[in-house]
Amino acid sequence: MCGIVAYIGKKNCKKILINGLKRLEYRGYDSAGISFLNNSSGACRMKVVKEAGKIKELEEELKNIKADGHCGIGHTRWATHGEPTRINAHPHSDCTGNISVVHNGIIENFQEIKKELKRKGHKFVSQTDTEVLPHLLEEYNSGDLLVAMQKLVKKIKGSGAIVAISSENSNEIIGARLASPLIVGVSKNGNFLASDMPAVLEHTRNFIIINDYETVRLKKNSVEIYDKEGKLVERESFKVNWSISNAEKSGYPDFMLKEIFEQPRGVKETMRGRLANGNLNFDEINLSKEQIKNLDKIQIIACGTSYHAALAGKQLIEKWAKIPVEVDYGSEYRYRDPIVEDNCLFIAITQSGETIDTLSAIRESRNKGAKVVAITNIVGSTVARESDSVIYTHAGPEIGVCATKTFTAQIIVMYLMALYFAKIRAIIGQDFYEKVIEELEFIPNKIQDILNRAEQIKEIANQTYKFRCFLFLGRIYGLPMALEGALKLKEISYIHAEGYPAGEMKHGPIALTDKKTVVVGIMPEGEVYEKLLSNIQEVKARKATIFSIVTKGDNKIGQYVHYYFEIPKTMEEISGILSIIPLQLYSYYIAKNLNRDVDQPRNLAKSVTVE
Ligand code: G6P
Repeated sequence: MCGIVAYIGKKNCKKILINGLKRLEYRGYDSAGISFLNNSSGACRMKVVKEAGKIKELEEELKNIKADGHCGIGHTRWATHGEPTRINAHPHSDCTGNISVVHNGIIENFQEIKKELKRKGHKFVSQTDTEVLPHLLEEYNSGDLLVAMQKLVKKIKGSGAIVAISSENSNEIIGARLASPLIVGVSKNGNFLASDMPAVLEHTRNFIIINDYETVRLKKNSVEIYDKEGKLVERESFKVNWSISNAEKSGYPDFMLKEIFEQPRGVKETMRGRLANGNLNFDEINLSKEQIKNLDKIQIIACGTSYHAALAGKQLIEKWAKIPVEVDYGSEYRYRDPIVEDNCLFIAITQSGETIDTLSAIRESRNKGAKVVAITNIVGSTVARESDSVIYTHAGPEIGVCATKTFTAQIIVMYLMALYFAKIRAIIGQDFYEKVIEELEFIPNKIQDILNRAEQIKEIANQTYKFRCFLFLGRIYGLPMALEGALKLKEISYIHAEGYPAGEMKHGPIALTDKKTVVVGIMPEGEVYEKLLSNIQEVKARKATIFSIVTKGDNKIGQYVHYYFEIPKTMEEISGILSIIPLQLYSYYIAKNLNRDVDQPRNLAKSVTVE
């Protein structure tokens, strides 16, 4: 939620900040602003420019504003306190206008602080919680903004990444992290602060992570990081292998389509090093064979799309490794006083590694003694750092708000993990183990085969995009994909869609079906195929339009449904990873027919760092 970028160095900061904000727009896009320090007339002056709406509105406004500053901060907002207006947009200023602040997070005690500051004569103009920050800095500042920031961190409660500049010192940017991501980008042309790496990937691939309650002083040639006690800490930068093309559309009309098409690679990269020469290596899980053999239960926590990956994981872990698995939403788990049993492994799945509900659930369970394995796409994310071990998905940066390639990468990790546990617990034999590995190695090519036929899905979307009610039905391995298919459609097309276990239709949802309904059946070949065929007949009899996902070579489906799409043949248990690809494409093309902004759907954000 909200994106921050800041730069100090040899270059003019205006373009760097705007480009950085564009790359962070997935984190929030209802208003944006930048502040920079202009030195032109000898005196150093603060300039603040902000606008409601998307970054392009801000960019337009900036066209007529001269900026020679080499030090500046920027922000793209996802409103929490106060409507998305120009006044509520960041940066916010103190009474003198000398201090400018951007913030990502929520200040829980801002009302109390605001009252206190008002009593001292401070004047507020916005409805935001953030505005207390520049005023607090003004109160605490006695010449060193870093020291003021350190006092501020002790005063506020809540979450946040905070970045500030002052016209009294144009040689530095001050940052602090409470519980929202903040990274430093290091380069020979200057240094950066940002919420996420893609914001500054075009300038550097060298990063330093800032930890909770640390503060940072950024100068053009140096980075000083201070711990909670105010002591200077030594921290080396690390290099990421992401490239700038990862953060660009590279000829695709949107990030979402690009990322859907990147899935063969994301899946292959996620398997690389773990699957080699017919063997599975999962040492990073950091559990001894004995511990795995003794597992009595696995508890998985996730939100949104990651929750659906968790459901897919549960099915295979239970089937292959015979370990009971419970799956919970982070937002539910943390408040229901959960029981953490001995010999229970806790797995958290989160593409961003920053979702506050998942993070809070991890903290809750670790406080109760659980061991946590995190599955995330972001190196150095908070979840990665707060877990006992981390399994990284290697999907590359995902910019589209709607998760696609991170989902299939998570699914692959779940499949590998289930197989790994099953092997160690000696539940499956060598032949079966080898067969699954062989099938998994074919998955990237099979995904590619589906993508090569994307036009077929587009045609079905063109025929059906005007319907206003969609039901996605699946059973067993198709069910998490039905849920995910419905979520994708809701997220980007704003059409009402539901994912449902096909067998449950007769207990309620079938009442919804009529000629205005599209039913999407996920029905690859397998144990429940015939049952699904009957369920589909039931809705067809109620005049619904039917679109089925089936396995190549299904020669009877044509007579039962209006549209169908064939996925390549694979083992029934791992068919879900193939079923989801046409569903992602289907949502995409429906949304495009409706002229929706698929990369930045209304009201959503990629990384949800508020409750
Ligand atoms: C947001 C995103 C979803 C994502 C969910 C969980 O709502 O828009 O795409 O599935 O957060 O995110 P996580 O990073 O924890 O997987």
